Amino acid sequence: MSEIDSLKSQLESLQAEALAAFAAAADLDALQALRVSYLGKKGALTEVLKGVGKLPPADRPVIGKFVNQTKQALAQALDASEAKLAVKAKAQRIEAERIDVTLSGRKRGAGALHPVQHGLDEITAIFSQMGFAVAEGPEIEDEFHNFDALNIPPEHPARAMHDTFFVKQMSDTPMLLRTHTSPVQIRTMKRFLAEGDEPPLAVVAPGRVYRCDYDVTHSPMFHQVEVFKVDRDVSMAHLKGVLKHFLSTYFEKDVAIRLRPHYFPFTEPSAEVDIGCVFCAGKGCRICKGSGWIEVLGSGMIHPNVLQSVGVDSDAFSGFAFGLGVERLVMLKQGIPDLRLFFENDVRFLSRMGVAK
Ligand code: PHE
Repeated sequence: MSEIDSLKSQLESLQAEALAAFAAAADLDALQALRVSYLGKKGALTEVLKGVGKLPPADRPVIGKFVNQTKQALAQALDASEAKLAVKAKAQRIEAERIDVTLSGRKRGAGALHPVQHGLDEITAIFSQMGFAVAEGPEIEDEFHNFDALNIPPEHPARAMHDTFFVKQMSDTPMLLRTHTSPVQIRTMKRFLAEGDEPPLAVVAPGRVYRCDYDVTHSPMFHQVEVFKVDRDVSMAHLKGVLKHFLSTYFEKDVAIRLRPHYFPFTEPSAEVDIGCVFCAGKGCRICKGSGWIEVLGSGMIHPNVLQSVGVDSDAFSGFAFGLGVERLVMLKQGIPDLRLFFENDVRFLSRMGVAK
């Protein structure tokens, strides 16, 4: 066989072998490897080309043309296989990433309002419907607003009774976490007068308060709602009427109320307010300790000294005030036995007692 015929037949068998290999390539990576092994710099075709150099110069163009045809045939076959494999690869990827939309979804429970927040909103709303304006004050207070202006001078035993948390002192004025919402009385009356207004003034002030205390009925942080009204001729009768309406609305029934003489430095006279036991309707049970009555809040007529401390003429104006513990009212309404449950964040309690919004 002549040199040129032998080269030709080498090229023919190379082409046949290559086309078969391309057609059998399993994926794009395998095909790329074949491209390199046949058409690459060190590939089979290059190897055959080396033989061309040994041919007589006249034969070279003939075989050169043949080599080019082979090269083209291989390149075309490669492109065709590549296109086929690309389609196959895409189909495989789509199959692998397929989402089974028939699988039922994982439910995420809807959130609910914390029972204390719900109680706070509910209580505030009742007063707002009665015409009281909502006000707020700072949780970090000074002694003037939390004590002095409320007729609790420095040496007063009530200061010690309040189990106050003091805040690290940053200035000359000692600061504390307010022990009740009553300082909002002072701040609101002062702001009101500074704006040039005159009573009547009717305010409901919900908020957080702090006392160093922790047991079944006490938590170091709890919530109060302060309610007060200042006007000409405000009397205990107004106080009692507002309380009766509020408590009956909150407990959704006609609750009996009783005012028991008490002492608060910032009210005179002062009264603790009891409601007829909501569990036994006054017959006497474990919750009311057999008395038929449950204490719910502190109240009274705003002390003239308090009115004077903010510049309200205590001869012309009088006012009533009361402060209630939100947790206590929610516990009574929902039958919750331990106040600490509110703050332990046990989801079982929260999802049972939380109120969907
Ligand atoms: N500030 C009082 C307390 O926290 C409650 C109260 C408010 C009493 C207003 C009388 C008038 O105990």
